[in-house]
Amino acid sequence: MKTIVFFNNKGGVGKTSLVYHLSWMYADLGISVVACDLDPQANLSAMCLDEDRFEELWPEGEHRQTILGCIQPILDGTGDIASPHVEELDDNLALIVGDLGLSLYEDRLSDAWPRCHDGDQAAFRATSAFYRIMLQAAEAREAELVLIDIGPNLGAINRAVLIAGEHVVVPLTPDLFSIQGLKNLGPTFRRWSLEWSDRLKRRPEGLPLPQGTMHPAGYVIHQHRIRLSRPTKAFDRWVSRIPGVYRRFVLDEEPVSLLPGTQDPFCLSLIKHYQSLMPMAMEARKPIFKLLPADGAIGAHMDAVLSCRKDFEDLARRIAQTCGIPLP
Ligand SMILES: Nc1ncnc2c1ncn2[C@@H]1O[C@H](COP(=O)(O)OP(=O)(O)OP(=O)(O)O)[C@@H](O)[C@H]1O
Ligand SMILES: [Mg+2]
Repeated sequence: MKTIVFFNNKGGVGKTSLVYHLSWMYADLGISVVACDLDPQANLSAMCLDEDRFEELWPEGEHRQTILGCIQPILDGTGDIASPHVEELDDNLALIVGDLGLSLYEDRLSDAWPRCHDGDQAAFRATSAFYRIMLQAAEAREAELVLIDIGPNLGAINRAVLIAGEHVVVPLTPDLFSIQGLKNLGPTFRRWSLEWSDRLKRRPEGLPLPQGTMHPAGYVIHQHRIRLSRPTKAFDRWVSRIPGVYRRFVLDEEPVSLLPGTQDPFCLSLIKHYQSLMPMAMEARKPIFKLLPADGAIGAHMDAVLSCRKDFEDLARRIAQTCGIPLP
């Protein structure tokens, strides 16, 4: 199982849209994928499922078929994780369904982190719950790849998810906030990774635990507010700053021999602003690159749909190469 977390502690940078589109793209490329919604806002699940299905998955009372159902025994103090329900979206694609109630787990995880340091078994079970849920889901689906969406913060839920992530892709928008977010990320990844490896020395026997590698795989820039399809000056200015900031703060390296802007080898892609195609895709509950004339993608829209397919296929292949995922 390969796990890739899409993360930036700046909100609204396109994390969820990216996980959604890449999950479908990898499925189309012939890889079995589990998309995992670990953001308590559950936006990824809302993109994947219609309201009727949501009502079934989120009934009054217990939500056995969501991520909350999986961790409920830990929250209740009655046992370990329940085996996950994996919602099939397509032959090659399934979803671990998100839940607003997941935020209830934040305090439990904050409390468990220091107790792992004392070798407390229950604390290790709580902290590794997401990892083990993903492992079980991937086994059930015979999935090679788990793509994970999380919320924009550096809280305990995200720490537990990130230590379960073998690779991290950072979606960005070229502005001051995203660059500032980038400066917080690298040091936080390194600290969490170190703290986890320290805790692993006191691990209980027999419990599958993640390594906490969190390899930074690169960043994806979401283009926004382009005028006449030409990037504005402000856009260029921020894009030119990203390679240096990424090198220094995320990779902890001296930013020498940098290639400018999007030629930087760590820039995985520049994602276009797809304008009205994005709401059209949301409405049709399919990725932009699967839109048809019947969904409203007519005329020039259809050219944009085809170009979107190429953009996402290129990005999927680039990430696969960086993270060592063999594509059929
Ligand atoms: N390439 C794109 N073209 C057009 N609109 C986009 C694109 N990517 C994302 N959006 C839109 O931008 C908004 C924010 O995107 P998204 O929800 O994916 O960001 P996020 O980083 O997951 O946000 P949050 O931090 O709240 O979880 C959404 O309305 C989405 O539809
Ligand atoms: Mg999101």
